[in-house]
Formats: sequence, structure tokens, C-alpha cells
Amino acid sequence: MVVLGLETSCDETAVALTRDGKILCNKIYSQEVHSRFGGVVPEIASREHTERLLGVTKEVLEEGNIKLKDVEGIAVTYGPGLLCSLLIGLNFAKGLSYSLGVPLVGVNHLEAHIYSSFITTEEYLSPFLSLLVSGGHTSIVRVNGFRDYEVLGSTLDDACGESFDKVSKLIGLGYPGGPAIERFAKKGNENAFSFPVPDPEALNFSYSGLKTSVLYTYRDMLQEERIYRVADIAASFQKSAIRSLIIKLKRAIKMTGIKKISVSGGVSANELLRKSLQELDVEWVAPEVEFTVDNGAMVGFLGYKLLKEGISSDYGLKANPRLFFD
Ligand code: KG4
Ligand code: ZN
Repeated sequence: MVVLGLETSCDETAVALTRDGKILCNKIYSQEVHSRFGGVVPEIASREHTERLLGVTKEVLEEGNIKLKDVEGIAVTYGPGLLCSLLIGLNFAKGLSYSLGVPLVGVNHLEAHIYSSFITTEEYLSPFLSLLVSGGHTSIVRVNGFRDYEVLGSTLDDACGESFDKVSKLIGLGYPGGPAIERFAKKGNENAFSFPVPDPEALNFSYSGLKTSVLYTYRDMLQEERIYRVADIAASFQKSAIRSLIIKLKRAIKMTGIKKISVSGGVSANELLRKSLQELDVEWVAPEVEFTVDNGAMVGFLGYKLLKEGISSDYGLKANPRLFFD
């Protein structure tokens, strides 16, 4: 079954073609325009989706060597995310589904991230723990079976990726912050500053205190020091941010006894995180880097699984900016 996956929940206009869950073509148009604002501007994001979505879809069909008439299902992210951005993808998907006479399936972006770990590897038998770390979410979810979730911990304030973005903006490294911080961190000393390692109660996450600590340190520095120590700040911040994830993960493993871990979302591209996971005595899997940030492949992949189970959506499907796990 050929399924088109559409993802427009934030600032990536992303489309993929999948056949029986295998990726034929995956294209991501990352909206660079936001970098000059240091973060995503919702109004601009939705305009960009409107301008790009058709073109990216055509490219994917061409490169995937599939005619539009041969598409057998349309999967689309319906939440969570920016309302107007979601609506662009959702209405485009409804139009395609209606005109082709093929089923439409709404995909929860968070679930798509969870299953993205298995796009190119064999899926774990449940239960497993999913550490979902993106720009909007930081959660530990116990997956008991297909779509059977128990949220063990979640973000109390800023998400992990969001803190990378905010610190990056503060120290002048631009947007998106994760890759920039990681690049600079490689040249810095991670022990140069002792920023706090966030550890709020139980399995919840909190990144606003760490971000504020970097802000205060930076505010008190001389201008020239800010410049020559930028790599040290990036490295020290990254160390604390990633350590927090590992502390929580270890705690979740201890509490549940589950040693099969899936790590996904934009931050799962981070090399220090992957290296730290390597040092744990667990079985873990993370998506290939192209499937870590928002992408259409994970939407098509999960959409195919849903359609195969006989799950589809009607045209009354609404965008849900605050969608979490049902
Ligand atoms: O999953 P994603 O594309 O979007 C959301 O669903 O939110 O994640 C984007 C986030 C951004 O905050 C970005 O800074 C972060 O993932 N990110 C990284 C890295 N690459 C992307 N954070 C740390 N290290 C990276 N290498
Ligand atoms: Zn995402």
C-alpha cells in the first residue's frame, strides 16, 4: 500500500512516500526564514507551508517514481503543533484524499516520533520505554502495546529542545539551536561552567532553571569573554541538559524494570545523548538522523500501520494544537 505522509505541524514542510511502511522518498523543506527571528514565527510558518507544500509533494512523487493516481492512502499530522500550520497540511490532505478517493488517516505527531525509531529497524516487542525529546516535548512514555501508552513523566516548563534553542539564541548561535550548540560544544570544555542538572520530582522534566542559569552567567560576563567562551558555555550547557535526560531515563528503567529504550525527536540526533545511551546497560534504538527532526516519513510510516489496522479518519477531522496521548 502506497501512503503519502504529510507533516506541517511547525516549521518543516515535510512529505514522504511509503510503500508497505518502507520509505520510497522523504523530503523536508526546513523554513530557514525563521532563523533571523531566533525562533518560529507562526504566521510566517503557515504562509511558507502554503507556498511549499504542493511543490514538495510533487518532488516526492517524482523522485519516488509514483504517479499521484497510484497513492492509496493519505496520512497527515493533525496535532500537536501550531494551529494554522496544522490546518494547511490537514486541508491539503483532505483535498487529496477526496479527489483520489483514498482513505485519510490523522496521525498524532508524538506517536509518529515514538514509532520513527522503527522506520529502518525491527520494532521492539512491547513493553518498551520511549524517551521523546523534541522542541515541544520531553516525555518518558511506557509503551505497553501498539498505541497503548502510559506517560510516566513529562515537561513541566520548557522542553529540552526548546532550551537548546533559547540558549543558542542568547549566546548568538542562531536557530535551530540544537545543531548549533552541538557544533560549538565540540570545541569547548564541558566542565568550564557548572550549570545545574535539572532533576525535578519523579520522572518529570524542567529546563527553565538551567536556561536561566545560563542567562545569569552570560549576563555577568564581559563582552569579549562572551565571545571567546561561547564554546565553553555551549559544552557546559549541553552536558547538563543531556545529563538530566539520562538521570530520568535511568530512574524510569529502575522503576519499571524495562531495559528496552527508544529515543526519538529532534534532540535524539545529539551525539552526546547517543554516546551517553551507549554507556548504559540497556538495549536502545534511535531513528536515523534524517528521521529525528520533523519529517513526513514517520507520518507515512505510522499512517500505514493505522490503515492496515483498519483505522482511518473522516473529513470532520480537526486540527488539535494541544493533542497529547489519549
Ligand atoms: O522533533 P522536532 O523537529 O520538533 C518538534 O516536534 O518539536 O525537534 C526540533 C528540536 C529543536 O528544538 C532543535 O533545536 C532540536 O530538536 N535539535 C537538537 C539537535 N538537532 C535538533 N537538539 C540537540 N542536539 C541536536 N543535534
Ligand atoms: Zn516533532
